[in-house]
Amino acid sequence: MKENLREFPYTWDDFNVLRKLSNEHSGILVPDDKFDMFYSRLSKRVRKLGVPDFEHYCRFLQAHPDREFGEFINAITTNLTSFFRERHHFDYLQEQLLPKLLKEKKAEKQVRVWSAGCSSGEEPYSIAMALAERLPGDWTVKILATDLDTQVLRAAADGVYTMDRVAALPRQRLQRWFRKGTGRNADKVKVKEELQRMIHFKQLNLMKEWPLKGPFDFIFCRNVLIYFDRTTKESLANRFGALMPAGAHLFIGHSESLHALETGFKLIGNTIYRKIQ
Ligand SMILES: C[S@@+](CC[C@H](N)C(=O)[O-])C[C@H]1O[C@@H](n2cnc3c(N)ncnc32)[C@H](O)[C@@H]1O
Repeated sequence: MKENLREFPYTWDDFNVLRKLSNEHSGILVPDDKFDMFYSRLSKRVRKLGVPDFEHYCRFLQAHPDREFGEFINAITTNLTSFFRERHHFDYLQEQLLPKLLKEKKAEKQVRVWSAGCSSGEEPYSIAMALAERLPGDWTVKILATDLDTQVLRAAADGVYTMDRVAALPRQRLQRWFRKGTGRNADKVKVKEELQRMIHFKQLNLMKEWPLKGPFDFIFCRNVLIYFDRTTKESLANRFGALMPAGAHLFIGHSESLHALETGFKLIGNTIYRKIQ
């Protein structure tokens, strides 16, 4: 965007302050080409707070982190997601992984999963559907779904989606797992309680301590690692590994890789990894 078209003065110094704060807090690397994106996402905050420009916004953010930092992080995270995104992962889950878990866990009858970086919930709800469609009724599914962004987590916990978000789902799945809204909500659907009961949503910054207990039978951390540097990726993969037994699976996003990182994971294809040690 041309400088003279901007509503609020915004400089590279401002951008540098903001991206440094973002990196320190969330681990997210912000390249130069996100200069305009930061302006468009944060100008809403500048307007809302009534400060005259981005320089004042930076000062406000640093002086009142308790008030503004959450809003800042919510504004700059990229939350793109969809139901059954990267379908091959869900096919693998139903066709290959579940038959294995059904055998291995037949005494315990419980599957524990972590969706790390769950955004507005489409990913953990898709996992819940995929599992519930294939598991016998006396099995329990426990999915921990976490994200840094509190705004998307609220939407995820509500489980309410506009029709366009579920348009690609087969009719059978839609009828089985969603209730259609009425009146003012006629253009929306809500995830059925049966599915919601399987998921516990919680805010968690992957860069900080993880106050949670494993072990998990598998972990989804998809389209999150892409924002982190090599060292952070390696450290996260190892921390995931510490919460999983040998043989458990880690699913990452289509443009991500653990290649050349020292982790205890082996690629088994299609961005799916198995813990080998
Ligand atoms: C592009 S979305 C991916 C959503 C989903 N996993 C998928 O693949 O469809 C990335 C998510 O990672 C979250 N995120 C980014 N940095 C994070 C961090 N340090 N800790 C936890 N979540 C983070 C963002 O808030 C965002 O919701």
